[in-house]
Amino acid sequence: MRHEVLFFCTSCGHESRKWIGQCPGCGAWNSFAEQPRAPRSRPGAQARPKAVLVPVSEAAASPAVRTATGIDGVDRVLGGGLVAGSLVLLAGEPGIGKSTLFLQVAAAMARPDAPAVYVTGEESAEQVALRAQRTGSVSSNVLLLPETSCQAVLEQLRSVSPAVVVIDSIQTMVVDEVDALAGSIAQVRQVAAHFQTWAKTGGAPVVLVGHVTKEGTIAGPKLLEHLVDVVVSLEGEPGHDLRLLRATKNRFGTVAELALFAMGERGMEGVLNPSAWLLEDRQAGAPGSAVAVALEGTAPLLVEVQALVAPSTLGTPRRVAQGFEGSRLALLLAVLERHTGLGFADRDVYVNLVGGISLSEPALDLAVAAALVSSASDRALPADLAVFGEIGLLGEVRAVSRAAERAREAAALGFGRVAVAGRDAASELGLPAVSIHRVGELGRLVAGQGG
Ligand code: TYD
Ligand code: MG
Repeated sequence: MRHEVLFFCTSCGHESRKWIGQCPGCGAWNSFAEQPRAPRSRPGAQARPKAVLVPVSEAAASPAVRTATGIDGVDRVLGGGLVAGSLVLLAGEPGIGKSTLFLQVAAAMARPDAPAVYVTGEESAEQVALRAQRTGSVSSNVLLLPETSCQAVLEQLRSVSPAVVVIDSIQTMVVDEVDALAGSIAQVRQVAAHFQTWAKTGGAPVVLVGHVTKEGTIAGPKLLEHLVDVVVSLEGEPGHDLRLLRATKNRFGTVAELALFAMGERGMEGVLNPSAWLLEDRQAGAPGSAVAVALEGTAPLLVEVQALVAPSTLGTPRRVAQGFEGSRLALLLAVLERHTGLGFADRDVYVNLVGGISLSEPALDLAVAAALVSSASDRALPADLAVFGEIGLLGEVRAVSRAAERAREAAALGFGRVAVAGRDAASELGLPAVSIHRVGELGRLVAGQGG
């Protein structure tokens, strides 16, 4: 029987029946390699059960068996814990705290009858043990396995029935018969496939730690997203302690939840009151500062937006947005120019969400615009004002979802009033509301007539 030969691009994964010099998918040269045969005879593939037609009315799924990790934020993001037999990808930039957080998870989940297996391909067992000491994750039920061979790991897993397996990291693991470097697309695919099969048959959840760069291009995580059941990503800004954990894919739950952690002396600690944490160093009463009420996950979150509008000496003035989408900033500036009489053409504009947090929610628009107007006019917004609303291209301010919950969080943090869209102001907010129908009215806020 003739074996079918398949080639694929080692840079983007594009598949082809014949070898090609330049990849039509990503444009890379000489990136095609022969597909290893291994996937064709994947363990368990032969034993595929016969396909059956099931009426949707009778297919009511039995709820997934979840095990809480014992770390609050992680459980919330996962939708209640790790699902038995699932494959989870933990993605994040190098140094962000992936190893730290999931060593803590391993320690929290490990029990004498069901240990946690922590496979470390990057660091020695001693290094991991040191980290465990520092973070208080020392437990005789966490079994370290310094190993980079996928088969060797699977061999070891036969002798235990773990509560969870952490593979740190997928980029260091190799399947022996695949003739490619660790971290290459060929290896990453095969390693993931092996652990997926193990998870499905062995029953324990497997967490694959994967590094991504800011551009998200490193071989691995992007491609892995399709293979795994759940993708959680750990994000943060260099120089800040704050870390955000969120699910970007979840076959067993929502992707709405967000958890905040602070990277401290003793590892990753859950931030219990994120709004208070984020507003701790706020310079109330400073021009350019506005407090936004965002909704990330299911909880409202107060965050300080800072804007600086300054004369530019550059032909093309700078637009710098940190924690906020750059294209959204450009749009808001265009709308403000058109509807407020403020000019930004010869000014540099910087916008920053304080605390190293990064959010993309339309409800931030009004606070960003208010901060810009405040900085441009060098007049502060009232210190007790929180702001939320979406801005449209025509300069109109639009109502946002769950306004009452947002206002309640603002009140809980000591804010006395909110500036919102007309429709939200007319609803039951529980706080005095300044209604802003159009961005042209933002000047009213800084003129101190906001009441
Ligand atoms: P790490 O978990 O190794 O990141 P990743 O696995 O994502 O590459 O953590 C990276 C940084 O965190 C490291 O530079 C040191 C710092 N750190 C702390 O600040 N506190 C701690 O308790 C630990 C263990 C690490
Ligand atoms: Mg690490």
